[in-house]
Parts: sequence; structure tokens; C-alpha cells
Amino acid sequence: FIFHSIFCSYLLNSHFRNHLFHVVPELETVGLTGAKLACGEGGCGACTVMVSTCDPGSQHIRHYAVNSCLTPICSVHGKAVITTEGIGNSTTRLHPVQERIVKFNGSQCGFCTPGFVMSMYSLLRSNPEPNQQELSEAFQGNLCRCTGYRGIIEGYQTFCTSLLQVLKDLFKCIKCCFVFFQMKPLDPTQEPIFPPELLALANSPPVPLDFQGPRVRWLRPVTLEHLLQLKNRFPDARLVVGNTEVGQSLFNYGKFLKTLSVDIVKDILETDCACLSSPF
Ligand SMILES: Cc1cc2nc3c(=O)[nH]c(=O)nc-3n(C[C@H](O)[C@H](O)[C@H](O)COP(=O)(O)OP(=O)(O)OC[C@H]3O[C@@H](n4cnc5c(N)ncnc54)[C@H](O)[C@@H]3O)c2cc1C
Ligand code: FES
Ligand code: FES
Repeated sequence: FIFHSIFCSYLLNSHFRNHLFHVVPELETVGLTGAKLACGEGGCGACTVMVSTCDPGSQHIRHYAVNSCLTPICSVHGKAVITTEGIGNSTTRLHPVQERIVKFNGSQCGFCTPGFVMSMYSLLRSNPEPNQQELSEAFQGNLCRCTGYRGIIEGYQTFCTSLLQVLKDLFKCIKCCFVFFQMKPLDPTQEPIFPPELLALANSPPVPLDFQGPRVRWLRPVTLEHLLQLKNRFPDARLVVGNTEVGQSLFNYGKFLKTLSVDIVKDILETDCACLSSPF
């Protein structure tokens, strides 16, 4: 067991915005406020950030977008998290994903913008040449109240292979297209690599975790047997995977919450085909 006190908040969004200075003191006055907090219940996507994990067997790095308003900070143990600040900014250099939403007038008040940017960025990290369908799916969790979606979608369609082909045919060479629109091309080789220390951690045998804060205790068993022992010891502990249901009702209970994270318990994650084909 690793015992560790959570000084910061339970949720990733609040950690970035309000508590990261426990780790990086220079951030005391500003925080990382790129990931917005709007609905706080997984409905709008304004808080979207990208999480990356490494599969120890294949060494495959998986990138995916999450709502940081519902993501427990303990659940990203051993994973890499990137917010919109981590990919670019208007002072030094905008990332192509940030630049295109600007160039296509996809932002007015800007509250939803970092969420759209990080959903698109996460998609491109796993799939640098998405099609229109994949693009639409990537934005299923993102809402915009004031701009509307046309500018956003038109800007991001420029990353789609089919649209690029149309532009290519129109302008004869891809370079001309980018010059025409004055857009930076996406260069996947320039993206941040998965942190080597996390790669080493991913390749070590998983260990049980036990984090405790003022309002929550987070336990992560590794095996089913250990999970059952913990459930026996803490019968009121809630099982958690994505936390999208537990997270929403989290503090409505007004009492100390114990959670049992089952996201690496293989016996729960993997099932055989016979079970899957059952009518239940
Ligand atoms: C914005 C939004 C929209 C949604 N829309 C819909 C919708 O249209 N239709 C719909 O049906 N649902 C909807 N949901 C609910 C959503 O499907 C559930 O929140 C989600 O499936 C829960 O998965 P999770 O991994 O996040 O669960 P968690 O929040 O981690 O857990 C959910 C519950 O399951 C229990 N649990 C977790 N793992 C296990 C396990 N292995 N064994 C037994 N119990 C376990 C937990 O204790 C908890 O009670 C929506 C949720 C959000 C946030
Ligand atoms: S703040 Fe709306 S989904 Fe997170
Ligand atoms: S730009 Fe205002 S909500 Fe999208």
C-alpha cells in the first residue's frame, strides 16, 4: 500500500485551477485555468483535457479526452494529462488545433473553446487523419452556447483527409492550401512524448493504492481477491470506474466517501464471450 494525503481537491479540474501550486508554487496566483468549469457534471465539455496511458504489454500509448470536472485526480495516477496550456498559447505559439478555431471564427466568448481544442487535439493524437464521422463523434460531449458550431466544424474539417483532398484538388498542391489559409500544418512528430518516468511505471507490476483526503478515501485494489477483502472491510465503499455517476452525486451525501477504484482489476474488466452473449 502507498499511503498519501491528498492536500488538493478530489477532482482533476479543481486541482488544475485551484490547487496545483502545492506542486508548482509559481502557479499560486494563476493556476491552470485553461480547462473551464461550467456545468460540473459532464454535460458541456468545457473542462476537457487529454489523458494518455501506456499499455505495458504492447507499449501502445492511448490518448483520450476526459471531462476533468468528473475525473478523480487519483484515477490519473501513472497517466499523463495535458491541458490546453500544454499545447500552445497566443504569446509564444498557437498549436494548429488552437489556430484553426481562431482562423475560422469558431470562438466568441471562448468559454467552450479550450474544451473543443482538447477534444480535437485528443482525436488527432490518436488519429492524425480523421474522417468527418470521427470528427463529429469527437465533439459529442462539447457544447457551445454563443458561436454555434459552423465555424468550429469548418475549422476542424481542415484536418479531415476527405476535405484535404477536395482542397488539394482545388489548389493543386497541399502547400498552396495552407498558404492560402495561412494555417500551420499539423506535424505529429512535434507533439510531447509520453513521459519516460511514467513509461517505467507502466512497465512495473501494478501496486495497490490508498489515498486519503479530508472528504474522500480512494482505494485501488489490483486483484479481485483484494477488492473483495476491501469491500468486506469497507462495506459502504462505492465501486468506481469512470466516476461519471458517483462523481455527480459525490458531495450530495455530505459525508466522508470511500471509493474502490476497479479500473485495473482484470477479473472485472475482462469477461468471456459466453457472458457477453447472455440475454442479460
Ligand atoms: C453527461 C452525461 C450524460 C449521460 N447520459 C446518459 C444516457 O443518456 N443514458 C444512460 O443510461 N446514462 C447516461 N449517463 C449515465 C452514464 O451512463 C453513467 O454515468 C455511466 O455509465 C457510469 O459509468 P462510470 O464508469 O462512470 O460509473 P461510475 O460513476 O464509476 O459508477 C456508476 C455506478 O456503478 C457502480 N459500479 C461501478 N463499477 C461497478 C462494478 N464493476 N460492479 C458493480 N457496480 C459498479 C458504482 O458504485 C456506481 O454506483 C450520463 C452521464 C453523464 C455524465
Ligand atoms: S464542466 Fe461541463 S463537462 Fe465538465
Ligand atoms: S464561444 Fe461562447 S460558448 Fe462557445
